[in-house]
Amino acid sequence: MFTRLLSSLPPPFLFTLLVFVAAAVVLFLVGLLSSVDSLCVELLSGGGRGFDPSPAVTRAITNVVCTLVFSATYRHGDAELQEVIRYNDGIVQTIAGGGLVDIYPWMKVFPNTSLRKLKDCINVRDRLLTRKLEEHKASLSDGDPRDLLDALLKGQADRSPGSEDEQITDDHVLMTAAEAFGAGVETTSTTLLWILAYLLHHPEVQGRVQEELDEQVGGGRAGSASDRGRLPYLDCVINEGMRIRPVSPVLIPHTAMTHSSIGGHSVSRGTRVLVNMWSIHHDPRHWDKPDLFNPGRFLDDQGQRVTPSCFLPFGAGPRVCVGESLARLELFLFLSSLLQRMSFRQPDGAPPPNLQGRLGVVLQPLPYKVVITPRAGWEGGAK
Ligand code: HEM
Repeated sequence: MFTRLLSSLPPPFLFTLLVFVAAAVVLFLVGLLSSVDSLCVELLSGGGRGFDPSPAVTRAITNVVCTLVFSATYRHGDAELQEVIRYNDGIVQTIAGGGLVDIYPWMKVFPNTSLRKLKDCINVRDRLLTRKLEEHKASLSDGDPRDLLDALLKGQADRSPGSEDEQITDDHVLMTAAEAFGAGVETTSTTLLWILAYLLHHPEVQGRVQEELDEQVGGGRAGSASDRGRLPYLDCVINEGMRIRPVSPVLIPHTAMTHSSIGGHSVSRGTRVLVNMWSIHHDPRHWDKPDLFNPGRFLDDQGQRVTPSCFLPFGAGPRVCVGESLARLELFLFLSSLLQRMSFRQPDGAPPPNLQGRLGVVLQPLPYKVVITPRAGWEGGAK
């Protein structure tokens, strides 16, 4: 399947991003379900006392991306997984810190602790991904690709030699794999943590999701991707979480390729365009009481799902998020399984999570604690 897709390539790098979604959906489900089970077991084992769910959530989502990119599904505490988490976090934290070098690149010649840490993390990342790439080259077969690295290698091999800028180089492959971590870990884990924070503020919403799960899935089996159509309210909770706290309040900067216009304003070629997602998702002309967490706004009078045109958590147009379907599947499987198997509440006497957040690479909730209790039949976390 990938070979067919890959043979009709547009420019290589863009294509490698596009193949992502197809590769992801087909290949990573098994690893994803195993990460979901592990997260449930881990949360339930420590959840009776108040604790911060963030490290466990980040670990689970990182594991999913490892499965997707190079077919590794790690056990809790695995040294290689810790290494991936450490360098990924180092990159995110140093980029988020900003600095004068971002504005005046020539300043990189002066000693700079943050820049050195960033370079160290990138070196660790590149060494690990290069090792995985070499292992994949050595074991590549004619069959279906096992993961994203396989799909990219097959695309690389299938490209007839043309001009240099049409080829997929090893560097393209490595940077695409690296981008899966950069774009896929922080966004998805942060969205999950925002939704959990809002559920602590709104126990009635958590209760309604659990009622829907009990009616539509029951407690006798784990939920699966095929349950998605039967769980509209859970979908609305996910949408409302992404509306009220978009992980990128201001999207990645874009540059106008041609002379154009937006909302009657002329935009000349080369203009830097910043999309203010926060304002789109909080505009009172489009959203009733935009600061209120109200998942029901994504349901119509008949209880059917509606998606307002000004709901754009993944962006829009040619540069829309290529991981959207993957992210939606992850959010659905993690949240449905968590809420089917356990209930979340804030520790006695603790203040509810702060909902202002902190802006770094993404808009993150401040650390908060949860107390977790298993739901009937799910005391061990998995079946
Ligand atoms: C809840 C999770 C996620 C959210 C909210 C999200 C949101 C976004 C947004 C808003 C953009 C920018 C669109 C623009 O600039 O116009 C973007 C770009 C991108 N996302 Fe995601 N994303 C998520 C998860 C993922 C995942 C899981 C992956 C892959 C594993 C991914 C891969 C990418 C890539 C590669 C781009 C750049 C696309 C391009 O420039 O053409 N994202 N995402």
